[in-house]
Amino acid sequence: MNDVISIVGTGYVGLTTAAVLANAGYKTYTIDIDENKINTIKSGKSYFYEPGLDGFVDRAVSLGNLIPTTSYLESIPNSNIVFICVGTPSNDDGSVNLKYIFESISSVIDNAKSDLVLVQKSTVPVETAKKIEKLIKEKNRTDIKIDVISAPEFLRESSAVFDTLFFDRLVVGSRNEESANKIIEIYKNVDNFSKIVNYEKFIDYAFNNVSKKYLENLLPFEKRIIRTEVESAELLKVTANSFLAMKISFANTIARICDATGAKSKEVMDGIGMDPRIGRAFLYPGLGFSGGCFPKDVAGMINTANEYDVDFGMLEEVVKVNTSQINIAINKLKKLIGENLEGKIISVLGLSFKPGTSDVRKSQSIYLIKRLIKLGATVKAFDPKAIDEAKHDFVHQNLNYTTSIESACDRSDCIIIATEWKEFIDFDYNSISTIINQKNILDCRNCLNALSLKNNNFNYLGF
Ligand code: UDX
Repeated sequence: MNDVISIVGTGYVGLTTAAVLANAGYKTYTIDIDENKINTIKSGKSYFYEPGLDGFVDRAVSLGNLIPTTSYLESIPNSNIVFICVGTPSNDDGSVNLKYIFESISSVIDNAKSDLVLVQKSTVPVETAKKIEKLIKEKNRTDIKIDVISAPEFLRESSAVFDTLFFDRLVVGSRNEESANKIIEIYKNVDNFSKIVNYEKFIDYAFNNVSKKYLENLLPFEKRIIRTEVESAELLKVTANSFLAMKISFANTIARICDATGAKSKEVMDGIGMDPRIGRAFLYPGLGFSGGCFPKDVAGMINTANEYDVDFGMLEEVVKVNTSQINIAINKLKKLIGENLEGKIISVLGLSFKPGTSDVRKSQSIYLIKRLIKLGATVKAFDPKAIDEAKHDFVHQNLNYTTSIESACDRSDCIIIATEWKEFIDFDYNSISTIINQKNILDCRNCLNALSLKNNNFNYLGF
């Protein structure tokens, strides 16, 4: 493992990749311009919640393989491989802001001392690599050669470490076979490491998303490698997320028909999901999709389509359906407690965009809370991990962030499950019968045992 790797950006993708590569044996610099983040990583921890990541960071920092730094000068001259994992936020018009991509790559080019393979992992619009190559040319570093590779990341928050170790595919978009081979070799070593890693060492490594079946069905390494054109790699990442978002909005639309007719969405989705051409995944109706990826990537795809004069109205509908899931939730709530929400106490359980993460970016739960407050309700909210990030995102005099399920449900007129945390699934709602005002539950993630709740005289509505 002679390669020395620098990874720019310490978010979910950057820090997880860095921690795994360092544990697999690579000397890895993890670079961020934010000194606070780097100091936290230096102390052997992640600055965000991601199951198991702390154990990997701690071990790699102690071994000396993971070197957190804010300095390009300390890291880039020693590196021959650089991964770009910086944020690519949305602009107001839905286009992707590439400011951090170009700023970081510019610093990489300026500090490079030898030939480099530049692996672009951030999610970007198609043809971004061409712009990066233009920047490299303009910098006129005739003394060295910099190859740009697009290797998009498919890890999911809440199972980022697992997805990095047991990746289902590695897409390598490259114009140079030798550079592509270098990256494939790095992932071969990750694959080797995944087979020997002693998970028990990694305290808090919640294998919550590990399915034995998934591991049994994992294809051999070579079959998981997809070599593509650079542009295909760029496009296929946003295509994947747009398609998954489309499945969710599709399921949510069918669920509306179910509500109107007495059909059950679970039965319909189970039935169609048996068809291998369709598949069961991402057909779970609920409050809709949120997070740092889907909303941004769908908006980015619509923008790209417009730019190339392609009508992608289908995706605009996907966004419309997702946004209106909040109205659906409000209408269901009104069915339970009546039209007037003024003065009602609503308990919202779950703030993060999905369980297993503290991330509240574009969280449907927070959009729902804002609407409830607008309609005159008082909201008591609880989340096992995301309270701090939610407080950072939204505070209001009619919103109380609480420290337990019980305190969130005190004098409640309706309990809303907005995120399907295990804590909420396992909770005995009967035990709080005496402290709530009304026995109403709106299960926006279809995750509770409806029958048992109904048997205990709860008015229950799902999606
Ligand atoms: C997603 C992609 O899955 C991942 O491959 C990519 O790298 C980044 O974007 P992530 O944002 O972590 O990952 O979350 P994911 O698990 O895909 O869920 C996205 C959202 O869809 C969540 O809000 C989830 O609650 C919602 N969802 C998912 C549904 O509402 N219904 C479903 O059936 C599935």
